[in-house]
Amino acid sequence: MSIVTTDRLTLREMTPSDLDDMAALLGDEQVMRYYPRTKTRDEARRWIEWNRSLYRDHGFGLWAITLTETGAFVGDCGLTIQRIDGVDEVEVGYHVRTEYQRRGYATEAAAASRDLARDRYSIGRLIAVINADNQPSTAVAERIGLRFEKHASVYGQDRLIYAANLAGLGRPG
Ligand SMILES: CC(C)(COP(=O)(O)OP(=O)(O)OC[C@H]1O[C@@H](n2cnc3c(N)ncnc32)[C@H](O)[C@@H]1OP(=O)(O)O)[C@@H](O)C(=O)NCCC(=O)NCCS
Repeated sequence: MSIVTTDRLTLREMTPSDLDDMAALLGDEQVMRYYPRTKTRDEARRWIEWNRSLYRDHGFGLWAITLTETGAFVGDCGLTIQRIDGVDEVEVGYHVRTEYQRRGYATEAAAASRDLARDRYSIGRLIAVINADNQPSTAVAERIGLRFEKHASVYGQDRLIYAANLAGLGRPG
């Protein structure tokens, strides 16, 4: 199911048939360099199942990103719930295949996710949970209007929390 299109991209729900692409994405050492380790094929299957349960429970999750023109699989991006300092927050997350990085795709997909959060899901506040060394992730968060707010311990690791109140953010004009 297609969720939204942007200039170049389509965001759509992940399905079990994305397993090969998701396993390649999450099994890529470069893509996963700020995670404890790459994910196995079985973990990629559970990642898809987790996102499909998010669609059912919240209407949103991480979506598959494809190039609208060719249908090529680019990565994933979207909205998940993360418990930070005891509060459930909506996080924008993104992973882009190594060969498609630095073309502005993550920024384009994350901006569309931010707009969906505000306009379709009536979410007032959006965060990104970022490893301090992850410069590309910080750049994407800043480009869509999130700003550094605080440090937090997430699964026992120190992380930067970037955040924004969505009212008034990212609307044309
Ligand atoms: C973070 C990530 C999704 C960015 O994807 P992307 O499509 O390359 O991002 P964009 O092209 O929109 O880049 C936006 C900006 O980020 C910065 N950036 C991107 N890759 C960078 C790199 N390797 N080194 C330094 N800055 C980088 C640049 O400022 C870039 O703009 P520019 O190319 O015009 O200079 C991608 O690097 C990735 O998948 N990383 C691994 C997964 C991850 O860490 N995800 C975030 C945590 S959940």
